[in-house]
Amino acid sequence: MKKKENNRKCQEKVPLFDVVFKHAKKKVISFHTPGHKNGQGVDKIFKKFIGKNIFYMDVTVFPEVDSLHDPRGPIKEAQKLIAQAYGVKKSFFLVNGSTVGNEAMFLSACNPGDSVIVSRNAHKSVMSGIILSGVWPIWIQPKIDQKLDILLDSSPEQIEIAIKKFPEVKAVFITSPTYNGVGANLKKIVEVVRRYNKIILLDEAHGPHLKFHEDLPLSGVDAKVDLCVQSIHKILCGLSQGSVLHFNSDIVDPNRVAKIVSLLQTTSPNYIILASMDLSRRQMFFYGRQIISKLINYAGWARRQINRLENMHCFCKEELNSDYTLDVLKLTINVNRLGLTGYEVESILNKNYNIQVDCADLFNIIALMGMGTSKKDIECLVKALREIDNKYKRNGKCWGLQLPSLSTEMVMMPREVVLLKESKRVSLKRAAGHICAETLTPYPPGIPILIPGERITREICNYLQNLSCRGIRVSGQETKTLETVKVVTN
Ligand SMILES: Cc1ncc(COP(=O)(O)O)c(C=O)c1O
Repeated sequence: MKKKENNRKCQEKVPLFDVVFKHAKKKVISFHTPGHKNGQGVDKIFKKFIGKNIFYMDVTVFPEVDSLHDPRGPIKEAQKLIAQAYGVKKSFFLVNGSTVGNEAMFLSACNPGDSVIVSRNAHKSVMSGIILSGVWPIWIQPKIDQKLDILLDSSPEQIEIAIKKFPEVKAVFITSPTYNGVGANLKKIVEVVRRYNKIILLDEAHGPHLKFHEDLPLSGVDAKVDLCVQSIHKILCGLSQGSVLHFNSDIVDPNRVAKIVSLLQTTSPNYIILASMDLSRRQMFFYGRQIISKLINYAGWARRQINRLENMHCFCKEELNSDYTLDVLKLTINVNRLGLTGYEVESILNKNYNIQVDCADLFNIIALMGMGTSKKDIECLVKALREIDNKYKRNGKCWGLQLPSLSTEMVMMPREVVLLKESKRVSLKRAAGHICAETLTPYPPGIPILIPGERITREICNYLQNLSCRGIRVSGQETKTLETVKVVTN
């Protein structure tokens, strides 16, 4: 009891913010980087808008503010506090987002040549991790919820089948919750992975708040995954690029994680980002539950309003199959029945209503509610959607989410193809049978259809040609139109 009280008392501290703030208030004469010198050299328009004070907080590494690479003072203390708040053994601040966290997880847990089970609907940084670490990915094809036009991450059954088929795998990599807020059955997945003594790595970029409310999906830190990355900046009030890597493993070496994180990060971290994560942790510890409860109410109201509209739909927890949960703060609004694409609705919201959603695809827009979302914001969004629903209805269903069979052969390691092999372009018509040398990700489905090292199949060529005919841009395509694909030169 006493320990709990002590911990709570400790969580009131924001050691990193305090030290940066204290330093800023001194307004020292700067002969250190950055070159703007407390903002003196900064463009006037920029400074007029943003104010002066922030520049005094933009400091370099000196003993007072501590070093991210060899933390001994306030950074060490702030990392300890965030680890304590999330109930893990260790936490590492990241200043290059969860991107660097995903890379670090592969490099920390695996050696070159190891194989890792990865759900194919992983963020592109997962591919970077695979390339940098030199592992063999064993892909699990995600399931599609045809009714909702969304992708689901791997189920425990899919993972178990993959482990049985490839018993030599070192680790399993999961993304949960997804961009749409759909949480995998982490409890069961962890049980399965532990039964086979594998390492479990979790991309929880969209879930740094889950820990703080019982009505949200289970967080990886509570499910006791080995390593888990969270974007503090995506949902909480940390500044962009602020993320954290939580370590909670008995298998992975913590010193190796620390070394890898240091290898990958800048030597000039932004202390404003770091300080914002310190504040954000304190906010969540003391007020997280209260803020999230309020947001859950707003989200419920928004869903009810949107689902009364004739041509839009925002799915709820109850519509998912029982293996999945939902972070209701992610509003995936399907506009298919409207006869407009998600991209078109995104653009209308932007131009006519001054509202920017987080992303769009052919069928949906995704509006993220973060800790700072206000009731007024939600009301504006709902009002705008109501008007769009009335004004633009063209009534015609677009096409549904489709995925070709991705069960293609991994012939070479992605690392080998990207770093060592020569490549050339061949026409899509003649590409079947070649080994792919690039990553191609159409939206939808928003997952790579081809990655470096995979044998290209006729079915995938046809799928890509079909997208090309519809004028759908494929992320990763280096040419204006998608008529060719990059393949490994024999
Ligand atoms: C699932 C997922 N993982 C990782 C990332 C990368 O996170 P960051 O932008 O913090 O680098 C993203 C970014 O959108 C993401 O959606």
